[in-house]
Amino acid sequence: MATAPNVIDLRSDTLTQPTAEMRKAMAEAPVGDDVYGEDPTINKLEATAAERLGKEAGLFVTSGSMGNLVAALTWCDRSDEAYMGADAHLLVNEMGAIAAFGGVQMRPIPNDARGVIDVDAFEATVSPASGLFPRPRLLCLENTHNRGNGAAFSVAEMQPTVDVARAHDMAIHIDGARIWNAAVALGVPAADLASVADSLSFCLSKGLSCPVGSVLVGDREFIAKARRVRKMLGGGMRQAGIVAAAGLVALDTMIDRLADDHANAQQLAKGLASIPGVTVDPATIETNIVYMEIGDGDGAELSGALKERGVLANGRFNWVRFVTRNGISSEDVDEALDVISTVMRTAS
Ligand SMILES: Cc1ncc(COP(=O)(O)O)c(C=O)c1O
Repeated sequence: MATAPNVIDLRSDTLTQPTAEMRKAMAEAPVGDDVYGEDPTINKLEATAAERLGKEAGLFVTSGSMGNLVAALTWCDRSDEAYMGADAHLLVNEMGAIAAFGGVQMRPIPNDARGVIDVDAFEATVSPASGLFPRPRLLCLENTHNRGNGAAFSVAEMQPTVDVARAHDMAIHIDGARIWNAAVALGVPAADLASVADSLSFCLSKGLSCPVGSVLVGDREFIAKARRVRKMLGGGMRQAGIVAAAGLVALDTMIDRLADDHANAQQLAKGLASIPGVTVDPATIETNIVYMEIGDGDGAELSGALKERGVLANGRFNWVRFVTRNGISSEDVDEALDVISTVMRTAS
């Protein structure tokens, strides 16, 4: 089901709606005061998420941004450094929260079009362990990579960056907002991808279709500290089992189907590639995010023209981004392609 009749909303996978099974589970969820550790549904979600990701413990948080923020504030003291790719969501889109609330210096490292950090540049940038420099404390990886066309990184691909961080005694956090998309695309257990990291946060409210929430996982000691940080940020949520219930349904029913979103993204990319004036290489589309370039055209203007014809997408500079998700069918993709093709023809 799209957002409104006749609208095909490809702006984000955050537009997904909770399923009927989620709504039922939410209505029936046993709840308690989670700040006292007494919400059985949250406790179950945290334990299930941790187990699926091969970690000891989990923490339910309000959002992906809060998961990343709580992780960074748990690992880092004021004046410590957190390293990340220059296009990382937590650098570009999360309001500088780690710096603002934690006094943590954010050190962007150049990354390629898929979001892979330049290892040589990383090695050349890391501050030495010395009283003369800030302490390099945390490496943040992003898997899948939002601005990197939804690129999914295997353990082998993450390893060189991880090795540099380990050589400098840094902790490793994965912004795994879409880690299940990565696992499905690569055909590996998500726990394998999480194994290179000390902590990982993933979103329930994106491709997994929950109304709200993310889970941060790590070892028991880390999560105990993270729980205090979450409280400090005002993130203790009381009877929030009512939303965590949807997360449990998601982990059981919504992961395998992400393959459909990836197939629809391929279909979209192949269709776009055949439209004059559009540049997309379908071979670079690994999951559910498709960026198309339009030469020296204006992405914002184009997305405005698409909106008038019932197709929603996010456009800036010379690109437009489409995201496939639960609720967008193969037929919707065909319909969107017809509209995009018509609008591009009219624009040329
Ligand atoms: C890679 C990545 N990390 C983190 C987030 C933040 O998630 P939230 O919007 O739940 O704060 C997003 C949101 O789009 C994202 O794409």
